[in-house]
Amino acid sequence: MKIIIINGPNLNLLGKREPTIYGNSTFEDYFKTLKSKFNEVELFYFQSNIEGEIIDKLHEVGFSYDGIILNAAAYTHTSVGIGDAVKGIETPVIEVHISNIHAREEFRHNSFIAPNAAGIIVGFGLKGYELAIQSFL
Ligand code: DQA
Repeated sequence: MKIIIINGPNLNLLGKREPTIYGNSTFEDYFKTLKSKFNEVELFYFQSNIEGEIIDKLHEVGFSYDGIILNAAAYTHTSVGIGDAVKGIETPVIEVHISNIHAREEFRHNSFIAPNAAGIIVGFGLKGYELAIQSFL
């Protein structure tokens, strides 16, 4: 079972960025914990601040991997291109957000990914990534 976590812009700052919203842990540290919890899964991680790189990664993995966990961060609310990429690939995509985007500013309520996601997990902090992995097992 091959699963990749794809994180979008500013999520490289996890641990430093607005810790009251996003927590104190870096994603690299959390990813180590995740890997140890799911030994049976081949788990990969990709982060980019660049929209086209996220689209390229979705194309690269989207016809061979078993699952994609996508937190497109701010691009969730703006990127028709990432939404189209999710629609165009075969691997199911679970959309994850650390914060509850529906309890935040209005502009965060829209998602260009949601209409083509297999499922959506929001507001559970970093634990949302673990829940998303479980949903593929
Ligand atoms: C986020 C929510 C987005 O609105 C925001 O732009 C992010 C992170 C989250 O995980 O809660 O960067 O995707």
